[in-house]
Amino acid sequence: MKNRRAFIKTASIFGIAMPLASCHSNSNTNNQKSQEGVKPIIISTWEHGLDANKVGFEILKNGGSAIDAVEKGVVVVENDPTNQTVGIGGFPDRDGNVTLDACIMKGDGGCGSVAFLQEIKNPISVARKVMEETPHIMLVGSGAKKFALEQGFKTENLLTEQTKKDYLEWLETENYSPEINIENHDTISTLALDANGKIAGACTTSGAAWKMHGRVGDSPLIGAGLFVDEEAGAAAATGLGEAVIRTAGSAMVVEAMRNGLSPYDACKEVVDRIRKKHATLKDLQVGFVALDMKGNYGAYSIHPGFNYAIGTINGHTLFDAKSMF
Ligand code: GLY
Repeated sequence: MKNRRAFIKTASIFGIAMPLASCHSNSNTNNQKSQEGVKPIIISTWEHGLDANKVGFEILKNGGSAIDAVEKGVVVVENDPTNQTVGIGGFPDRDGNVTLDACIMKGDGGCGSVAFLQEIKNPISVARKVMEETPHIMLVGSGAKKFALEQGFKTENLLTEQTKKDYLEWLETENYSPEINIENHDTISTLALDANGKIAGACTTSGAAWKMHGRVGDSPLIGAGLFVDEEAGAAAATGLGEAVIRTAGSAMVVEAMRNGLSPYDACKEVVDRIRKKHATLKDLQVGFVALDMKGNYGAYSIHPGFNYAIGTINGHTLFDAKSMF
């Protein structure tokens, strides 16, 4: 993978690295706006979303539920040790710990989340257990791990040889605003609408590379990294978590759809707002995907380079999102 990586200039509020744009893309260049709906449908962020969608759509095609499709879909990416931004193999924090964040949500408001989870490679499945087996929504750190072990999850070392090597290289400079080398990167967020009209979403990440120990981004936060409401639709974010949290990003996209905007226009409205609020951060990258209850979908980002995958009965396609710049 390394020889195919592009070096990406990054910048952020805290000097932590989030990718600005990928120089490599296999995406369809049709920079589309919201598309006419079909059902069932699955939509995921980034090129790795194609792998998630293939597994998720098999579930949907066979009459399975949206919640199963999004969980089992993103697990594929969590399990990929070559993916350095999700699950096993994710970049560690600046102390060398891989810490994972994830959340899952259904259209009826059911949701679960884990943050700062260590040594458990499938945080999304732990988040689902939080939703289904506890009276709570969010468990963090050692509490989340204790719960995961009680639920039968196993501990394992999440720092791969490659990621350890990259971490040791980073330690040579300890540069907090480094150029980082990732190909198709960041959080995986997946939204699905099943044949019965049920909608769900999942979001999972290892967060910002070289982050402060204990830092949690938008991805496990209901309303920030992900929001789902069967009265309006679903939305999920990718990019610099601090900017998404500050603006309650995904909840705002869903609210915009509730107020009548198309998924594309809703993503654009919130991206515009985020950009305006962070006008001095020229390299800030944030993107959203959104899906309404009819199966219409859209995406939008601040900078070019954000792509997203769509899976329907017509096949699997990767699209470049339209962007502000
Ligand atoms: N969007 C992922 C993060 O900021 O952690």
